[in-house]
Amino acid sequence: MSHHTELLPDPLPAEPLVVASRWLAESWKLRQQPNPNSMVVATVDPDGQPSARVVLCKDIVPQPGYLVFYTNYLSRKGRELSQNPRAAAVMHWDALHRQVRVEGPVVKAPEADSDAYFASRAWQSRLGAWASAQSEPIGSRKELQDAVADAAKRFGTPPLDTEAGDVVVPRPPNWGGFQLWAESVELWVEGEARIHDRARWTRSLTKRSDGSLHAGPWTSTRLQP
Ligand SMILES: Cc1cc2nc3c(=O)[nH]c(=O)nc-3n(C[C@H](O)[C@H](O)[C@H](O)COP(=O)(O)O)c2cc1C
Repeated sequence: MSHHTELLPDPLPAEPLVVASRWLAESWKLRQQPNPNSMVVATVDPDGQPSARVVLCKDIVPQPGYLVFYTNYLSRKGRELSQNPRAAAVMHWDALHRQVRVEGPVVKAPEADSDAYFASRAWQSRLGAWASAQSEPIGSRKELQDAVADAAKRFGTPPLDTEAGDVVVPRPPNWGGFQLWAESVELWVEGEARIHDRARWTRSLTKRSDGSLHAGPWTSTRLQP
């Protein structure tokens, strides 16, 4: 099979998330999938049962090195992360023959970041965040629509199908961002004749007394595919 994806440089680059961030940007440019920033995030419940789902990666911050996604803090993933604040994430750009894996501790994003991102979303999505107790059962689609209508009444919004500009819907306290801090990163590139190229970067993350994370230097190694 022929494709244009270059293999990982030799020697390996010092900063793996700089490469991941460039790969994401390239995928956005090519637009070969509707959500180039989709990623699978796996969490683990107190019994050790993993669960995985797709979320949107809203930022890759190479320095100090974390990924950002937004969700409902009381959802299944949110509850699992409050009990066991570690996760694994995978991004896969099929058309570019590339995969990124990230593992490490998870912390809540600063409130200001969550406020800013929430405010950037369409007001209908912001209402949805109030109406949906994400991951809880609901009797029918109609009950959900009623909950959205209740939220619309509460915040005095126009009808849902209106193209409205300035509708104020604040961020629910149980909705916001998570930062997945990279303790290990693996980059994978499909190689000619199925001899793929893989490398893993690891570093230590230590908690400061104020709860913030301090990252040590990366070490890297190529892996057999
Ligand atoms: C393309 C795509 C993007 C998604 N993005 C998000 C997201 O950014 N945040 C989110 O909470 N759920 C997102 N979802 C929905 C999740 O996959 C999942 O259904 C939901 O978060 C509930 O998961 P949980 O019950 O494991 O917490 C997305 C789903 C798809 C298919």
